[in-house]
Amino acid sequence: MAHASGLMRSVFLGSGAMTPERIVTNAELETMVDTSDAWIQERTGIAQRAVAGPLETTASLGTEAARRALADATLKPEDIDLIVCATSTPDRTFPATATLIHAELGIPVAIAFDVQAVCSGFVYALSVADALVQTGQAKTALVIGAETFSRILDWSDRTTAVLFGDGAGAMILGSVPAEEAGGRGVLAHALRADGRHADLLYVDGGASQGGRIGKLKMQGQAVFRHAVGNISEAIAACCAKAGVEVADIDWFVPHQANRRILEGVARRMGLDDHKVITTVTQHGNTSAASVPLAFEVARQDGRIKKGDLVLLEAMGGGFTWGASLIRL
Ligand code: ACO
Repeated sequence: MAHASGLMRSVFLGSGAMTPERIVTNAELETMVDTSDAWIQERTGIAQRAVAGPLETTASLGTEAARRALADATLKPEDIDLIVCATSTPDRTFPATATLIHAELGIPVAIAFDVQAVCSGFVYALSVADALVQTGQAKTALVIGAETFSRILDWSDRTTAVLFGDGAGAMILGSVPAEEAGGRGVLAHALRADGRHADLLYVDGGASQGGRIGKLKMQGQAVFRHAVGNISEAIAACCAKAGVEVADIDWFVPHQANRRILEGVARRMGLDDHKVITTVTQHGNTSAASVPLAFEVARQDGRIKKGDLVLLEAMGGGFTWGASLIRL
């Protein structure tokens, strides 16, 4: 039930992350395709990525990230009444990975579904969960970004195989009456999609077309050309909606696709480099998992703290892109 006097506010309660144990370094990739550590580091900033083992799946990584988020929030599985999982690499075509995670965690009957917006998935999922909390349809939401892109890579294609990694991150949002939130909580979102660019970054398979999983295909340069402008516009729109200045933001948590994109956005928006969380070096591009993974790294090392104003942003296949603002 929504609070009698109006909308509820989604406030941050906890977060967690999980990456596979197996690390694939650039040096190891040099033994698989015609590439070099120097090329990968210079063009992308990536030094290594985690890759799921045979028994690890998107759901198992997402479940562990969710367990850690529950522990961080000192909540129990039965406290959760909504699970939104952002993924483009679901364990199965259906049911939704969110329902597999639901069962694994032992959560009672709840709302659970997946959101598919590729690298922007976590920002999209956060917005959807926030809307359900604000309107009183859920009280405590588990928002997960989880991916195993290693399973959709063509490991013989050096133009894509070096860029991606696996992992999962989770965030828990709780419901409080807006007037009691004291400025905390999810403040605004700016989501965008432009399907005219679908052929620049896609997987050449699917249940309804070809009947096989397919492999990731990307025209990297063309994607790059759109990234900085799109992301910058979404950041500006999100700040305008929330009525905050870009300079007021304590931390930027970008989707970790390529260090040059992060630097390009920082330059365009006049961001202080020290405020931009950069984990692409250790994780590569983990698609929907990358924003919550980067967020968790910066929370664990003590940079992101309670009361901080944090901007999350991403862009990915579709194209989809967007930004969200949250005060912890
Ligand atoms: N190792 C060595 N050489 C390589 C590799 C590799 N792994 N990959 C490509 N090359 C070669 C190319 O074949 C090309 O050779 P040529 O000049 O003989 O033809 C040369 O390097 C330059 O290739 P470019 O594609 O021009 O390299 P660029 O500097 O654009 O970097 C990259 C490529 C890293 C993919 C970049 O375009 C990029 O990051 N794009 C953004 C894509 C992205 O991150 N997508 C993810 C989701 S969308 C998003 O989040 C924004």
